[in-house]
Amino acid sequence: MARRPLIAGNWKMHTSLDEARALAVAVVAASNDLDDRDVMIAPPSTALSEVAGVVADSNVILSSQNVHWAVKGAFTGEISPLMLKDIGCKMAIIGHSERRHVFFETDELINKRIQGAIENEITPVFCIGETLSQREEGKMIDVLEGQVWSGLENVSLHNASQLVVAYEPVWAIGTGKTATENQAQEVHAYLRDLLGNIFEKNIAAQMRILYGGSVKPENIDILMQQDDIDGVLVGGAALEADSFERIIRFHK
Ligand code: 13P
Repeated sequence: MARRPLIAGNWKMHTSLDEARALAVAVVAASNDLDDRDVMIAPPSTALSEVAGVVADSNVILSSQNVHWAVKGAFTGEISPLMLKDIGCKMAIIGHSERRHVFFETDELINKRIQGAIENEITPVFCIGETLSQREEGKMIDVLEGQVWSGLENVSLHNASQLVVAYEPVWAIGTGKTATENQAQEVHAYLRDLLGNIFEKNIAAQMRILYGGSVKPENIDILMQQDDIDGVLVGGAALEADSFERIIRFHK
């Protein structure tokens, strides 16, 4: 069975409520007639419930940019998976490089978030990626392997739709430098193999692995033509309705 492509927009710390509403309306309009791919948007927390209203009854999936593992409690500044579920949120980005590098989230913390999300039927978009110096020093595979094994410790899945993996090389995020399609494909194939050692092979074969890092209208088609690239996680280019529409409407 072919993997259904997933085009995801991470709005990061951008958009006022009005801007979020307008962008969500444009994404719904751009995705309405497409039934062969999934489209996801991850607005900032302040706009989640507003955008939930816009995407209700559309094909667009709502995601948060992070999630706590507990259903409730004294965790100032966090959002629980039940709160997300309550407003119709289906996915949560977890382990984004900005969380790892700017807010020092560890593999252990990320693992707890992943477990809490899955237990509460929120699909994690589990992000991993190496820095430029790690790649240049030949440590890329060790870094990715460490992030994947630690992030997925004690995680068990019934099916592949419970988890999405996003490979986002840190050196390609917001820099305009995209991994070439061959570099990305090589890592994705390696990751699928690794996921096959962690979960059952048929689950890994069905799991969606996204590429992220300076995805633009100019490079989307060639990226999506690679065998193991099942979608993209887009930052900057997801904030402009026209460029995100072109990315959603990729051609294989
Ligand atoms: P850019 O597309 O702006 O490089 O951001 C990628 C990203 O971090 C998506 O999560």
